Amino acid sequence: MTLSNTRHLDYEAPGCFEETRYEKLHNVICKTPVEGSKLIAHSIASLIKSKQERNEMCVLGLATGSSPISVYRELVRLHQEEGLSFQNVISFNLDEYYPLSKEDVQSYHYFMHTHLFNHVDIKPEHVHIPNGEVSLKEIRSFCIEYERKIEAFGGIDLQILGIGRTGHIGFNEPGSHQNSQTRTITLDHLTRYDAAPSFQGIENVPRKAITMGIQTILSAKRVLLMAWGTNKAEIIQKAIEGDISPMIPTTYLQLNENTTLVLDHEAASELTRIKTPWLVGQCDWDEALRSKAIAWLCEKTGKSILKLIDEDYNQHGMSDLLASHGSAYDLNIEMFNRLQRSITGWPGGKANADDKYRPERALPEKKRVIIFSPHPDDDVISMGGTFDRLVSQGHEVHVAYQTSGNIAVSDEDAKLFLEVTQDLLKTEEHEKVLKLKEEFERINPQQPAPRGICDLKGSIRKRESLGATRYFGLPDEQVHFMNLPFYETGLIDKNPVSQKDIDLTLALIEELKPHQIYAAGDLADPHGTHRVCLDVIFSAVDALKTKPFMKDCWLWLYRGAWHEWEIHQIEMAVPMSPDQVLRKRKAIFFHQSQKDGVMFQGNDHREFWIRAEERNAATAKKYKDMGLSEYAAIEAFKRYHFL
Ligand code: F6R
Repeated sequence: MTLSNTRHLDYEAPGCFEETRYEKLHNVICKTPVEGSKLIAHSIASLIKSKQERNEMCVLGLATGSSPISVYRELVRLHQEEGLSFQNVISFNLDEYYPLSKEDVQSYHYFMHTHLFNHVDIKPEHVHIPNGEVSLKEIRSFCIEYERKIEAFGGIDLQILGIGRTGHIGFNEPGSHQNSQTRTITLDHLTRYDAAPSFQGIENVPRKAITMGIQTILSAKRVLLMAWGTNKAEIIQKAIEGDISPMIPTTYLQLNENTTLVLDHEAASELTRIKTPWLVGQCDWDEALRSKAIAWLCEKTGKSILKLIDEDYNQHGMSDLLASHGSAYDLNIEMFNRLQRSITGWPGGKANADDKYRPERALPEKKRVIIFSPHPDDDVISMGGTFDRLVSQGHEVHVAYQTSGNIAVSDEDAKLFLEVTQDLLKTEEHEKVLKLKEEFERINPQQPAPRGICDLKGSIRKRESLGATRYFGLPDEQVHFMNLPFYETGLIDKNPVSQKDIDLTLALIEELKPHQIYAAGDLADPHGTHRVCLDVIFSAVDALKTKPFMKDCWLWLYRGAWHEWEIHQIEMAVPMSPDQVLRKRKAIFFHQSQKDGVMFQGNDHREFWIRAEERNAATAKKYKDMGLSEYAAIEAFKRYHFL
C-alpha cells in the first residue's frame, strides 16, 4: 500500500462504497502501528524527493506525542541508510506547552530534536516550533508571525497529526472554532491527565499551550492523521462517522478533502464497517464473524442465544446469514455449543477426560507452564484465578516478569522501604542507606532516575511479586525476573526493542520447553509496555517455532487491566467461585506499591483489584445473559496460533 501526496485522485472518496457509507473521512487500516508509520514516513519521503526533483522547498507540518515516534524513527532510517536529505524541508510544528522552556525534556522542542532533527540534515533555520518561552506580552505577535511565516513559505504541503482522546488536533481542544489560527489555548483536563505521567503528576502539567489553529491545519494541501490502539477507537469512530462539531475538533478535517486517516486495527475497531459489518453490506460469514454477530444480536435484543428467532436475525441485517447458514435454530445451537465448550475449570487440561471439545489437551497430564507478565503484577490482576488453579491442579507453573516495573514505584514508597532497612541495620552499616537516601535529593525529573533508585524500586516490586507467588504456593525458583533491557531507561520513554530482549525471552522458553505459555494481549495499555512485551514474545516464538518442543506448546493470551476479550473472541473461559475471587484479591494486595492512586493507571480510575473483579464479574454475567451457567466471575483467554 502507498499513500499519494497529490490530491486524492488515487483513492475513493469516503462513503462512495456501501461499506463506507457511514464514513465521512477517508481512512486506511494497517495491520500494525509500525506498518502504518512506515506508510506515512514513505509518503513524507516521496513528497520531499519529488519537491527536490523540482528544486522546490517542502513545507511539513509536524506533530509530537507517542503516535508519530515510529514515523520519525523510519524517517531517520531513510536518511541514514537510504540517503534521504532534509535540506529542502521547512518544518512547522503544531504546538508547544506554555510556558515551558525549550530545554525541558517534556517540551515539544526537546521531543522534535531528540526524535528527528538531531539525526537528519535539516537546516536549523528551517525548523519552526511554537516558542513556549515567549513572554505573555509578546505571545500574540508571536502567533501572528507564525501564521505569516507559514503563508510566506506557500502554506503547508503535508500536515501530519495525532489525535487526543478529547478529539483534539494540535491542541485545538473541544470548542475550538473552525476559523481559529495559531493562538494560546487552555488544555482540557483529560489532555493534562493523559500527559500527567510524563510530567510526574498532573500538578506539573502546564495549563496552557500554543497551537496552530483549525484553519491553519485545514489549509494544508495534504493531511495525514494517525491513530494507534484501542484507546483511540472511540474518538476515531466519532471523528469519522460523526457530523462536524466543534466539540470534536477532528471532525473539521471533513472539510479538507485531501485528508487520510491511517489507523491500526485496534483504532479502527469501533467503525461500523468493522464492528458490525452486517449493518453495512454483504458479509463473508466465517465462524468468527458468526460468533461476533450472534453475541451482538443477544445484546441488542436482550435475549439469550437459544431464544433468538429468524425474525431477530432478519431485522438486524443478518438475513443473508440465515440464507447461507440455515435457520436461527441451527445458528443458535452452534453458538451455544461453542460458548459452552469454552468454559473449563481445568485450564491446564483435564486428565482422563475426553478433550475433543475442551479448550485444552488432556495430555500431558502435568504441564509445564510459563505465565509471562509484562509488569510484576499483571499475572495476578489479569489471570490470578487461573494461575491459582494451574498450581493447585499440579502443573509446573513458572512466572516470568518481563520488566522490573521500577518507574511505577513512588519516591515516597521507596524511601519508606529504605528507612525500614535502616532501622534494621547496625549503625555502622547505615552508610549505604544514607547514600541512597541522598540520591533522592538529587533527583531531576528531566533526567533518567539514578541506577541505585531504579534498583531499589525494582526490588520493591520483586518482593511484592514474591509475596503473591508464594501465596499461590509457587517455589521462588519458578519465578523469573527478566528485567528486559528495553524498559531500563529510568524514564517513561523506553528504548526500542533490541535483539537482547528477544534473546532473553527465547532462552527462557527454550530452557523450560513449556506446554502452555500465557501472555498479555492487552493492546490498550496506555504506555505501550504490554504491546512491546507481547511483540517480544511473538518474535521469540517465531524464532523457535521449528523446534520440536514447540509443536506441543500452546500460546494463550489474557487481558484484564485495561480491557477484556469480547465474548465472541473467548476460547477458554475459566470460572471462579466467590472464594477464588477472594484469593485473587489477596494476591493482588501483595502489590502494595501499586495500590491507591498509582502513577500509571490509564483512563480508568478504579484500582487494579476492583477493575479485575468487576471485569471478571461482567464476563460471567455476559455468559449468564446469553443463557449459560451463572458463575461469580470468569477469566477469559484467546489462543494465538503461531504454527
Ligand atoms: C502533538 C499534538 C497532539 C497529539 C495528541 C495525541 O503535537 O498536537 O494533538 O497528537 O494529543 O497524542 P499521542 O500521540 O501521544 O496519543
